[in-house]
Amino acid sequence: SRVIRLAVIPGDGIGVEVVAEALKVLDAAVAATADSAGESVVFEKTEFKLGAARFLETGDVLTDEDLASIASHDAILLGAVGGVPGDPRLKNANIERGLLLKLRFSLDHYVNLRPTTIYPGVTSPLANPGEVDFVVVREGTEGPYTGNGGALRVGTPNEVATEVSVNTAFGVERVVRYAFDLAQTRPRKKLTLVHKTNVLVFSGQLWQRTVNAVAAEYPDVAVDYLHVDAATIFFVTNPAKFDVIVTDNLFGDILTDLAGAISGGIGLAASGNINPTGTFPSMFEPVHGSAPDIAGQQIADPTAAILSVALLLDQQGLPEAATAIRDAVTADLAGRTPASTSRSTSEVGDAIAASLHSLVSR
Ligand code: NAD
Ligand code: IPM
Ligand code: MN
Repeated sequence: SRVIRLAVIPGDGIGVEVVAEALKVLDAAVAATADSAGESVVFEKTEFKLGAARFLETGDVLTDEDLASIASHDAILLGAVGGVPGDPRLKNANIERGLLLKLRFSLDHYVNLRPTTIYPGVTSPLANPGEVDFVVVREGTEGPYTGNGGALRVGTPNEVATEVSVNTAFGVERVVRYAFDLAQTRPRKKLTLVHKTNVLVFSGQLWQRTVNAVAAEYPDVAVDYLHVDAATIFFVTNPAKFDVIVTDNLFGDILTDLAGAISGGIGLAASGNINPTGTFPSMFEPVHGSAPDIAGQQIADPTAAILSVALLLDQQGLPEAATAIRDAVTADLAGRTPASTSRSTSEVGDAIAASLHSLVSR
């Protein structure tokens, strides 16, 4: 049988709660589809205790040993990391940069894939959203996230703080190519570049020129452009117009929380941090964070983490298991009623896992 070594980082807050359900569903999906896939698959899981909780306990954010060990796995499942925003005890830790971004950068996750659909029966806050089915291809290793900045005269009236966006021809071209490849496989074959080329002219020109050049190799893909501020208008007024969106790291971050909200809630939004070359393991995680406001109450929606497992299975070449999860989630979402929204986090995971187990007995 094929062994897939999975590094599991539950993290903090609801990360721990939703990862427990995601693993439950992973095991159920693998059991339900192993035979039909031909070869049986075994996920061998290693748990890494990382995040704000670990930092408060030991002072470690991510040791070189942790990183090397995680990198030796085939894939990574992450819940969420980070404490209560503003917690003074975490001031010097910077869990988000030192752990999450360190993983994305070190493992060269240059594609941050964030799909959005409105599942049947799910209530969007938009009255009439239409047929929403788009994917944000967010650049994952560059932009304003690189830490290329600094501060002078900190704490004085003359303080100056900079945070300079880094965009390389290499980095932009590889993510743009990935987005075109993806658009080419989708029925509508449409790609929208989202940027702010009217103001961020240097990086904007690099992105637009790259899209124009690569577009010549994809004559079937229709290309357009939106400034990011206008894109937020259309996310609310006509999200069905989008197919594949390619954008920089920060714009992609902001747009995908909005995308989660219009799809019926951030608790439904899945993502994959992909290293398409396969040099390093890809990492799958819900778009949401550790949600300190609801942590420990078993009320978080585990669906985003569960759908992130489906992305993981796709990437591992197990599309049957991935589809089985999406079908089980689709059925669960369609059956959610106002009364069932009071189900606990683990009850939602149990229900989705149970419908996968019922596939085996058929
Ligand atoms: P958040 O996504 O954690 O929470 C925003 C709001 O959405 C909260 O009201 C929360 O209760 C709600 N929410 C989030 N996930 C939910 C779910 N599954 N079900 C139901 N409701 C859900 O964002 P935040 O409050 O800005 O950040 C909290 C912490 O998480 C911060 O430390 C932040 O840096 C970190 N963070 C981590 C990641 C990650 O690890 N990938 C992502 C985003 C934020
Ligand atoms: C996300 C998060 C992260 C990001 C933070 C926690 C570093 O918001 O995954 O969307 O900005 O990428
Ligand atoms: Mn975010």
